[in-house]
Amino acid sequence: MLKSKDLLGLRDATAEEIGLILDTAEEMKKKLNSPNKTSELLKGKTLVTLFYENSTRTRSSFELAGKYLGMTEINISASSSSVQKGETLIDTGKTLQSLKTDFIAIRHPMGGAPHLLAKTVGCSVLNGGDGMNEHPTQALLDMLSIREEFGTLKGLKVAILGDIKHSRVAKSNLFGLTKMGAEVWVYAPQTLIPRGFDELGAHIATSREQCVDGANAVMGLRIQLERQSGGLFPSLSEYSRFYGVNDAVMKHAAKGAIIVHPGPVNRGVELTPQLIDGESSRIEDQVTNGLAVRMAALRLLSEYREANL
Ligand code: CP
Repeated sequence: MLKSKDLLGLRDATAEEIGLILDTAEEMKKKLNSPNKTSELLKGKTLVTLFYENSTRTRSSFELAGKYLGMTEINISASSSSVQKGETLIDTGKTLQSLKTDFIAIRHPMGGAPHLLAKTVGCSVLNGGDGMNEHPTQALLDMLSIREEFGTLKGLKVAILGDIKHSRVAKSNLFGLTKMGAEVWVYAPQTLIPRGFDELGAHIATSREQCVDGANAVMGLRIQLERQSGGLFPSLSEYSRFYGVNDAVMKHAAKGAIIVHPGPVNRGVELTPQLIDGESSRIEDQVTNGLAVRMAALRLLSEYREANL
């Protein structure tokens, strides 16, 4: 069983909890691939997706995960809610609690916003990405995709190239993958590597070839121009030329290496279109795995609530 009513990040998650979510997601995926993908497992429970930032994959997969599990589900986006009239996150959370909400999946531009919400309400809070902090369900679906390919995460090398500094995905993957026994290497212009990332367990490569050398999975990350104040590298075309992943770079990877990317992808910047659409790409499978992981998280948090609240 999970150890908390909320899923806020992987920094404090145990390997057992991560393993439990991945195993449950595999079970959920079998159901998703069966002729009837819906169940009544969480019938009577309510999920609200509360998104203060844009999203395609995370929001739609939380919504569908709820629907496939028989939940009542609604979406609130900040742009069309009373947030525009000045309502605080805490007051919004209390309003949702008064509406008998059981689960809130939140995305917010400020790191720590889901943690604040979780302290304020009795609902279970699932972090759908908070600023530059964490994106736990994304890392879990990345881990599921890699584990599906190799049967384990232990002993694998995962190379992450791109905008590490602004990436909540890189942080959650670093926490999760290292706990599961994988080695994480990163490469980017120095201005896009966060200070102290090596102290968290990452290996900082000095070239993209070193980063990818012998890697079993190569993850590209989008350059998050919306979180940058500018001047961190000369131009996107130069970034792509010196830091992007292409066929020549992938020749250094291990035999059978796969390409993963959390999306959205900027084609031709972090990865070439040939790699995105090629045989080694698992980018589309990752999206399906996101659904399975979010179904698993809702199910396991529901079990925690039944047992403890
Ligand atoms: N990977 C990810 O979080 O995608 P969205 O922004 O589309 O949710």
